[in-house]
Amino acid sequence: MVSRWPDSLVAVHWLTALTVVCAFAFVLSREFIEEKSVRQWMLQGHWYAGMLAWMLVLMRVPLRLGTTAPRHGLPRPQQIASAMGHGLLYLGLLTLPGIGYALACARYGHVDFMGFDLPALISRDRDLAETLEEIHEWAGWAMLALIGLHAFVALLHHHVLKDNVLRAMLPARHPR
Ligand code: HEM
Ligand code: HEM
Repeated sequence: MVSRWPDSLVAVHWLTALTVVCAFAFVLSREFIEEKSVRQWMLQGHWYAGMLAWMLVLMRVPLRLGTTAPRHGLPRPQQIASAMGHGLLYLGLLTLPGIGYALACARYGHVDFMGFDLPALISRDRDLAETLEEIHEWAGWAMLALIGLHAFVALLHHHVLKDNVLRAMLPARHPR
């Protein structure tokens, strides 16, 4: 019997991964688009995906605090490295969208989320927007590198070490 993550955390993990990938895809592919209206639409898509990722992680933290992680029987140094990596991923998921929200308020004065005008965290300020953009971009690239490493390690466990680390985070297969 494989010790697994509960279905709720598996669902939130993969939904979060999807929203974060969409946030990157919208903002990075914008570079290649010249049409102003499409660029605007893609920035909006970046905001929506980023805000959804934020909501999901805010839901996930209390769920996670009430869950005992599956035991994979890994050596102590690997357990510590994995806990540090996951801690950094949570830190990125919690802070990156918040900085993006503040940046959008400083640059555009408001943030629209699916037709709702979200409260402005700060008032318009061009210099502050520049500083927040630098921090947001830098943190975004660091997050992308961390996610790449995280996915690589998960695939390494599955295909090379052939253990249950990835299987425990995949949707359960129920017998028919
Ligand atoms: C998981 C969440 C997020 C990730 C991974 C992320 C990542 C990024 C990255 C990598 C960039 C830089 C793109 C480039 O180099 O051109 C960027 C730009 C930006 N992000 Fe985010 N972001 C997230 C959430 C948000 C949220 C929630 C908002 C606002 C509500 C936001 C607002 C912005 C803005 C305004 C820019 C500057 C775009 C421009 O004016 O060209 N981000 N983001
Ligand atoms: C945007 C993409 C992703 C983000 C933000 C992310 C985030 C996280 C976080 C925060 C955890 C820690 C779970 C906890 O202790 O509560 C986790 C676990 C996990 N993730 Fe991801 N993940 C992403 C993509 C992926 C991908 C693409 C894979 C597989 C190729 C993957 C496989 C796993 C596995 C197997 C675990 C469980 C690890 C363990 O039991 O020690 N993740 N992920």
